[in-house]
Amino acid sequence: MNQVLETIKSRRSVRKYRKEQIKDEELEIILEAAIYAPTGHNDQPWHFTIIQDRDLINEISEGAKEVMKTRDVEWIASMGRVKNLNIFHHAPTVIIVSGRKDATTPLVDCSAAAQNMLLAAESMNIGSCWIGLAKFYFVNEKNMKKFNIPEENKVYFGVSFGYKVRENPKALKRYKNVFNYVGVSSQNINKQYNKLQLGVTMEVIEKRIEEAKVAYIPYSGSYDRIPEYMQEVGQWVMEKGLEMTGRVYGTYYNSPEDVAEEDLRYEIGFSFAGDATPEGKIGIKEIPEHTVLSAMHQGPYTEIGPVIHAVVDYAVENSYDIVGPVTEVYLNDPAEVPESELLTEVQFPVIKLK
Ligand SMILES: Cc1cc2nc3c(=O)[nH]c(=O)nc-3n(C[C@H](O)[C@H](O)[C@H](O)COP(=O)(O)O)c2cc1C
Repeated sequence: MNQVLETIKSRRSVRKYRKEQIKDEELEIILEAAIYAPTGHNDQPWHFTIIQDRDLINEISEGAKEVMKTRDVEWIASMGRVKNLNIFHHAPTVIIVSGRKDATTPLVDCSAAAQNMLLAAESMNIGSCWIGLAKFYFVNEKNMKKFNIPEENKVYFGVSFGYKVRENPKALKRYKNVFNYVGVSSQNINKQYNKLQLGVTMEVIEKRIEEAKVAYIPYSGSYDRIPEYMQEVGQWVMEKGLEMTGRVYGTYYNSPEDVAEEDLRYEIGFSFAGDATPEGKIGIKEIPEHTVLSAMHQGPYTEIGPVIHAVVDYAVENSYDIVGPVTEVYLNDPAEVPESELLTEVQFPVIKLK
């Protein structure tokens, strides 16, 4: 793989930085990369405010949180209330990106510039993170003036930069069901997702699941409250400043086909990287590496039953012993996609008998 592609794939959102400031030459390279991004109509409508003073960075963070607290969207309001949250993750350099409101495509242009900056930073092994929350501080005109941001501009986001305290973890899982080939003769598409899209028979596969550290809560009762429970665990992970590593799951110890609703037992969890100890209802554990039979379900969560049955049938027909409860891994967010596009992976831990 060439270096550009390697940089694209190794970049991660970095949320822990060394105190030491990045070098001026490095900052210059990052800024130059920004302005080499493409822009609609060649408007180049962007403006970059570079801040390296800790007090000013903290002021923006605290000010943004005050505004976030007043927002209707619950996850934003609740992040605003987290006392020890610094929205820039204590990075030593922050760049606020604003764009001319009357330009053709200012948000798109500024976003292209931001991605160039992230990649330039990564190419020098400097950590970076796109900070959408930064915009909340600048909804206040007084703050725009204080930071000399042109009146005709709108602040879209910030980006934080600093030396990493550790190497980047592996990339988060990328959903592959986003490509639709039209009029293409040779296709090398992930078979499983493609079959789903075409509505062809579901495929069951055997695969290894890597070990993972998870934060979870055991629940009982109706499944109706699962979205709320997910928020509860997710919020705890976020408030602890832990890095989510992509596995959002529910493990179901019994089934509505066998027990009354109030007797349903299950756990909801999130995988994370970092150190954490159990707290209140929250448990922490390592799920060891294991083998599963896996199948994908696309559509409303309530329609997952046939996929679960199909995996059980496959296990019986192909000499697998099911050795644990079913886990559903939630691959996208019901707040972001319509029900018909929800993707859930069904996993049964198994041992192959012969
Ligand atoms: C528009 C946008 C806004 C974001 N805002 C924040 C933010 O405010 N705070 C943060 O920690 N990460 C933020 N991120 C980073 C995403 O959480 C991150 O890119 C995503 O989880 C994927 O992880 P990766 O960047 O390591 O691949 C933002 C990313 C984008 C594109």
